Amino acid sequence: MRRTPVYYYSSASGLVRTFAERLDRPTANLAEREHRRSEVDGPWVLLTPSYKTGNDANDTIPEGVRRFLRSAHNRRLLVGVMGSGNRNFGAYYQKAAREVAARSGRPVLFEFELAGTRWDVEEAERILTALDEALDARHAS
Ligand SMILES: Cc1cc2nc3c(=O)[nH]c(=O)nc-3n(C[C@H](O)[C@H](O)[C@H](O)COP(=O)(O)O)c2cc1C
Repeated sequence: MRRTPVYYYSSASGLVRTFAERLDRPTANLAEREHRRSEVDGPWVLLTPSYKTGNDANDTIPEGVRRFLRSAHNRRLLVGVMGSGNRNFGAYYQKAAREVAARSGRPVLFEFELAGTRWDVEEAERILTALDEALDARHAS
């Protein structure tokens, strides 16, 4: 069965990367140019942190995520969004993940803080495995 890949963005602090690397599936970091400019080979899940910039738009979606979503092909095959955030940001908690989900009409599959706990990793993997199975069943029918 195909393991739905997770494309994530992680800054130099690497919290999201730490989480992503614990998942039992292919992952790619959109902070890296070669991944940011690539096109997916099937359904995929986005994992993004939120970064409040303080500019007028109060934009929180990382540029690497924005760049990857410029591809209509990638947007079409996006199946869901996961978010990493920090509750200290109040109303902006998980804003990037929630905004991409709202704009694309895809669900927020899971949210966690910082690099997540061991429980968070297990829960995300459980959700992703259920997604793998649902996509496999859809493909078979
Ligand atoms: C400058 C800055 C701004 C942030 N803004 C938000 C925010 O608006 N909402 C949120 O939920 N988390 C916010 N966070 C928390 C990060 O999204 C969170 O720590 C994430 O795990 C960072 O992942 P990374 O280390 O892989 O880049 C912010 C963190 C920093 C350093």
